[in-house]
Amino acid sequence: MGAADAKEGHRPYNLVAELTYRCPLRCIYCSNPLNHREVPDALDGGAWTRAFREAASLGVVHVGLTGGEPTLHPDLPDIVSGAAEAGHYVHLVTAGTTLDGPRLAALHERGLRSVQLSIQDASEAEADEVAGTRSHTKKLAFARQVTDLGLPLTLNAVLHRGNLARVPEIIALARRLGARHLELANAQYHGWALRNRASLLPSAAQLEEAASAVEHARGEADGPEILFVLPDYFSDRPKPCMGGWGRRILVMTPEGRVLPCHDAGEIAGLEFWRYPERSLEACWESSPGILAFRGEDWMQAPCRTCPERERDFGGCRCQAFRLTGDAAAADPACSLAPGHAIVRDARREATVEAPVPVYRGDARSLNR
Ligand code: SF4
Ligand code: FES
Repeated sequence: MGAADAKEGHRPYNLVAELTYRCPLRCIYCSNPLNHREVPDALDGGAWTRAFREAASLGVVHVGLTGGEPTLHPDLPDIVSGAAEAGHYVHLVTAGTTLDGPRLAALHERGLRSVQLSIQDASEAEADEVAGTRSHTKKLAFARQVTDLGLPLTLNAVLHRGNLARVPEIIALARRLGARHLELANAQYHGWALRNRASLLPSAAQLEEAASAVEHARGEADGPEILFVLPDYFSDRPKPCMGGWGRRILVMTPEGRVLPCHDAGEIAGLEFWRYPERSLEACWESSPGILAFRGEDWMQAPCRTCPERERDFGGCRCQAFRLTGDAAAADPACSLAPGHAIVRDARREATVEAPVPVYRGDARSLNR
């Protein structure tokens, strides 16, 4: 493979811009780092705009504005314009409690193309319980503002043992709200979700029931397109996390660190570079942290010779690190991995009574 081909092998097309980790919600499965309060919002609208221009020359075509709650960034209007003027498709991922109709319309005029709204459940009491604050009713009003403007709406619901039984109601809600897409995202055990895994992990029977509700709904006309993927704790093989480390998706944190995924900054010993101290190209092409697991040279047995490595890239490096302490290990979600017993044992957590979960931001939860 020549140098140009090698570079083509890791051309990013999606920039995930984590504008701020601040958020009014306290979800028990938040994927933000446990120390999110210590991460400053270091980039203003001008810096983000310059990053979007540099991203376009790397090949990025899609910018997802996320967080925390990205609408809390004071320069959000300029950030949306900056991304749109750099030629990107601009997508906003929000909890929907902080924007009113006029502000949303102004963002639309500046180039916002679509919105993803997170919901926690189908009904108010259960949803607000998981969010740790009253928010569900506001979210529904916000969803209507999105569709009134003609913006495509994606509804995202994180699934876990507490809400899997209500998948049919969540699908019905998405239909009522006019969502084009519904992401039924089984909790991934990073950040606060790993901290609360014993409260969140479902049983295989719950997942099967939800999967059949999804199949049934997919057969009905005029519903949203539904994305539902079984969690890797319940499959024999891991997911190709982020489409491979440092290949297609570039994540920028609120302080400008360039990562291959939202969790990589938590892997001990990896050095990731920060924009604008270095160019975006340098951060993506040459930072030691990104180079550590790009390609296949880092792989150990059994991944090194496994025919599936081209499909799943050895699974998730962050999950390998969290569960085994070795980020170069095969993802324990894989039944061939030496550490697979960790996942098998964790599944048993679903058979015991769920402990009281810890909300994002609770100081006592930092005792990992
Ligand atoms: Fe994927 Fe490695 Fe498991 Fe093979 S051994 S399926 S490459 S995680
Ligand atoms: Fe980091 Fe999977 S979340 S590699």
